[in-house]
Amino acid sequence: MNGTKSQPDWVREAWSRTTAKVTRISGRIGDRFPHASVQGEYKLEPPYWWTAGFWPGLLWLVYRETKNEALRELAESCERQLDQVITDYYKLDHDIGFMWTLTSVARHKLLGAEDSKRRALLAANLLAARFNVQGGYIRAWNPWREGEQNAGWAIIDCMMNLPLLHWASAVTGDPRYKHTAVRHADMAVEHFIRPDGSVNHIVIFDPETGEKVEVNGGQGYGPDSAWSRGTAWAIYGMSLSYHYTQDEKYLHAAKRAAHFFLANLPEDSVPHWDFRLPEGVPAYRDSSAGACAACGLLLLAEQVDGRESALYRSAGERILHSLYVNYGAWDNEEEEGLILHGTSHFPEGKNIDVPLIYGDYYFAEGLARLAGYRELFW
Ligand code: GLY
Repeated sequence: MNGTKSQPDWVREAWSRTTAKVTRISGRIGDRFPHASVQGEYKLEPPYWWTAGFWPGLLWLVYRETKNEALRELAESCERQLDQVITDYYKLDHDIGFMWTLTSVARHKLLGAEDSKRRALLAANLLAARFNVQGGYIRAWNPWREGEQNAGWAIIDCMMNLPLLHWASAVTGDPRYKHTAVRHADMAVEHFIRPDGSVNHIVIFDPETGEKVEVNGGQGYGPDSAWSRGTAWAIYGMSLSYHYTQDEKYLHAAKRAAHFFLANLPEDSVPHWDFRLPEGVPAYRDSSAGACAACGLLLLAEQVDGRESALYRSAGERILHSLYVNYGAWDNEEEEGLILHGTSHFPEGKNIDVPLIYGDYYFAEGLARLAGYRELFW
């Protein structure tokens, strides 16, 4: 349960406003799948889109606090709708992890639901099946267009999909899933985390030989730039890999990414969408990167001691506090998003400077942690 006594006032206030707002907007969003809020209203995606888990995940975070059964029913309905897509071979990719962790794993952890466990195990099998044994990576996507060859593509985001595999090993007693997660994480330490702690978004391998071919800038500005959300995926993902394995190499990788992230934050502690932008390129913020990194920093704080722990904890709190006071859409009744100024995909010109459902999800997860909820859905 939450330990309200030690919470700073702003955490109590922010968490209470968050639970109230999610409850209120659930009346309009219902059991659908929001992604980016445009002019105040969340636009919807189909249930196979990678973001499908975040709204039900947000509902579960708030249900855990309020026990509002209407929110539980909406989250369960979202989960049931994912049943329709689990057999859609061409649409599902490695983001199966995000999708089923925040729906079925969350429900299994909170309610012990057997049907959710079965669904999440099926999803874990599909995720593990994307592993390329030669290259030691989980394949990211399927071809986005006819004829595209991307069997050799791995992306840093996948670090957040690995907890599904660790969970599957824990509940089945079968270590295959966790072995796959470990192999992928080892590959990510070697090929994604750069010496300065910044990260590559996409690394391309030869899918036949497993040899590394090249690095691709992906959602960052370019191959040598530093996409901030990618850095956040690395901080939280590596720290989760350490949580599940106790292998120090992941702890060190998480720390390296965290120090790069923190050293490159602007004054208000919320990152620009890329930390290495040439002059003249618009430096929009990405509040979602800040929210995700804050969750990683709070976990990291629990994995180390003393001053180091205090440093990560205060950095995570500082980011969440800034998101609350400088980016929160509290005074605008018309805005469905919790936090403003997220950037989804600058190079493709998609969803720039808007609330994003994953920004809202990680913001709420971070606040819930500060409010005393220690159990991870991941
Ligand atoms: N996983 C896709 C993104 O971070 O936008």
